[in-house]
Amino acid sequence: MFKYVSDVSELSQNIIDKFVGNKNVAIDCTLGNGYDTKFLSSKFNKVYSFDIQDVAIENYKKNSDERVTLIKDCHSKISDYVEENVDAVMYNLGFLPGGDKSITTNCESSLKSIECALQILNPGGIMTVAIYVGHEQGAKEEGILMEYFMKLDKKKYGVMLHKVVNRSEVAPRLVVIEKK
Ligand SMILES: C[S@@+](CC[C@H](N)C(=O)[O-])C[C@H]1O[C@@H](n2cnc3c(N)ncnc32)[C@H](O)[C@@H]1O
Repeated sequence: MFKYVSDVSELSQNIIDKFVGNKNVAIDCTLGNGYDTKFLSSKFNKVYSFDIQDVAIENYKKNSDERVTLIKDCHSKISDYVEENVDAVMYNLGFLPGGDKSITTNCESSLKSIECALQILNPGGIMTVAIYVGHEQGAKEEGILMEYFMKLDKKKYGVMLHKVVNRSEVAPRLVVIEKK
């Protein structure tokens, strides 16, 4: 196993842990099997977690995690639920591993959500976006999202793309956005 070149989920958690100084409020925009939410709740005082699937929400409820507010709705509706600024936001796009592969994130709602989340991200805060380009919707998402990321104001945001170059061409990508 490598220490730094880990899978995109572990890498995003390590980056948030190391570089987000003020760990008060975080959002997991794609709860799924709950690994990212569990990580965030072990580090932050308060976590909002979105997923559109009952199975994801119900599974996480078993943790009785008081720091986590579970929201069964589309992450494009962040502003309906989160009325405060946040210090970290995680996206692990695509479908629920082990679940229904036809229920997947899509570029329109992902983009809308990312735009909203960046508005409420505190200075010094970090957003991570893991993109799975090996399926059709993921490849489409990558195109639309990268176009958006490349246009973000460089005076306000540092944007970095992580891509493993000696594995599959369609290995997942990780985009990290840090707000100045
Ligand atoms: C790759 S999984 C997330 C993995 C998760 N972060 C973990 O730690 O296990 C993607 C999740 O996004 C959810 N999802 C898809 N579209 C969504 C949307 N518009 N809003 C919120 N969640 C969505 C899916 O239901 C799925 O559970």
